[in-house]
Amino acid sequence: MKILLRGGRVIDPSQALDMVADVLVSGDRIAAIGQDLETDRETKVIDVGGCIVAPGFIDMHVHLREPGYEQKETIATGTRAAAAGGFTAVACMPNTQPVADSPAVIAYIREKARAIGVVHVYPIGALSKGSQGEELAEIRDLVEAGAVALSDDGNPVMNAEVMRRALEYTRLFNIPVISHCEDLNLAAGGVMHEGFISTILGLRGIPAAAEEVMVARDIILAELTGGKLHLAHLSSAGSLRILQEAKSRGIKVTAEVTPHHLCLTDEAVEGYDTNTKVNPPLRSEEDRQALEEALREGLVDALATDHAPHTEEDKDVEYDVAPFGISGLETAIPLVVTRLVETGRLSWERLIEAWSCQPASILNIPGGTLKEGGIADITVIAPDWEKEVDVNTFYSLGKNSPFQGLKLKGWPLVTIVAGRLVMEKGQVLL
Ligand code: DOR
Repeated sequence: MKILLRGGRVIDPSQALDMVADVLVSGDRIAAIGQDLETDRETKVIDVGGCIVAPGFIDMHVHLREPGYEQKETIATGTRAAAAGGFTAVACMPNTQPVADSPAVIAYIREKARAIGVVHVYPIGALSKGSQGEELAEIRDLVEAGAVALSDDGNPVMNAEVMRRALEYTRLFNIPVISHCEDLNLAAGGVMHEGFISTILGLRGIPAAAEEVMVARDIILAELTGGKLHLAHLSSAGSLRILQEAKSRGIKVTAEVTPHHLCLTDEAVEGYDTNTKVNPPLRSEEDRQALEEALREGLVDALATDHAPHTEEDKDVEYDVAPFGISGLETAIPLVVTRLVETGRLSWERLIEAWSCQPASILNIPGGTLKEGGIADITVIAPDWEKEVDVNTFYSLGKNSPFQGLKLKGWPLVTIVAGRLVMEKGQVLL
C-alpha cells in the first residue's frame, strides 16, 4: 500500500525542512519527499494543499485507564481519540488498577495496544510499588517489559530518598523519571489555584509553591544523581525560573506544558464547571503568559495533553469532590494552533518540535522525523479548517472538556501510523 500526500507544506525540524512538497509513503516507511512525485495505480493520493505535513505528533502524557477503569477509557477508545486528535503515538501513565508497577501490567498494555490500538502505545512504569511513594518498583523488570520511563504521576513522590534512588537507578537504563511535582502538605486538599479567585469562590486553594518546592527538590536530586528528570505539566512562573537556572547550569532536566495551562486561567473556574478542575490547577494570567513564553523560547521542551478522561457521573458532583482531569486528546492541536500559532505567538516549527521531535528524544522512542527510510508516522493539520468542539463526537469515553462549544481552527486532517491511514477528516478508519 502506498500513500501520496500531495502538495502540503512539509515542516520537519529534525531536518530543518520547511517546503511545499509531496510525501510518499510505501509500506510502513517514508519512501520519498520531493516535487511532483510519480504515482502508480495502487497509490492512494490525498490532496493536502494548504495543509501542514509534520512528523507524527507524540503525546507523551496520557491516561488510558486500562486496566481497571474501563468505564473512563480503554486502550481501544483512547488510541482512537489519539488518532482523531492527530497523534501517532502516546505514552500512558501507570495510575491504572492494578497500577503498572509490574511487568505483567506493562505486557498487558503493550499486547492490548498491538491487538486493538490504532496508534503506537508506550507504557510508563510506576516508579514505586503501587505508586505509594515508599518502595521502588522492580525497575529493571519494568524496563525489560517495555516501560519507556518511570513515574508515579497523579501521586507525587513525597519521600525525597525514594526519588533520589529512582533517579540513580534509572541511569543504568538511560530512561527518564517523570515527576508530578506537588507537595501534598502544601496542596493541603486544595481544588484550584490559590489566589484572589479561590478566595472569592470559597474554594480551597493549591499554592503555586506546592509545585515549585518539588521542582526545586527534584532538580537538586537530578544534579546529585546525574539521572534524567522530566517535569510533567508545569503550571507556574516560579517553576520556570527554577528550571531556567537548572538548565543554565547544564543539569539534565526537561519539561512539558499542557494546552489547558496555555489556554485557560483560574478565571475559568468561576462557573464552578468541574471540567476546569485539573491537577496542577489552572493558574493566573501571569503564569499562563510565562508558560507561553517558555514554550516559545524552548525553555519548556515539549507539549503534552495530560489527557485525563472521567465519566459524566464522576464529574457531575460538587467542585470540591470531583476528580481532577481534562479529556484533552481531541482538542489539543486546534487549541494550540488557534490560540498560539494563528496569533503569531508560536511558530509551526516550534509547535512540531515540541509535540513530535522532543517527545521522541526525551523518551528515546522512534518517530519525530520524516527522514526517508524512517517509520511513516505522519500528522497533517489543516490550518484553515474551522469547527466547534463537540464532546459528543469524541472517540474518547471522557467527555470532560471545558472547551465544549468553542470554535477552533487548525484541526488535524490526516493521521498515518506506520504507513497505515488511521484517520482522515476527523474520522478514525479502524
Ligand atoms: O488532572 C489530573 N488528572 N492530573 C493528574 O495528575 C492525574 C490525572 C488523572 O489521572 O486523572
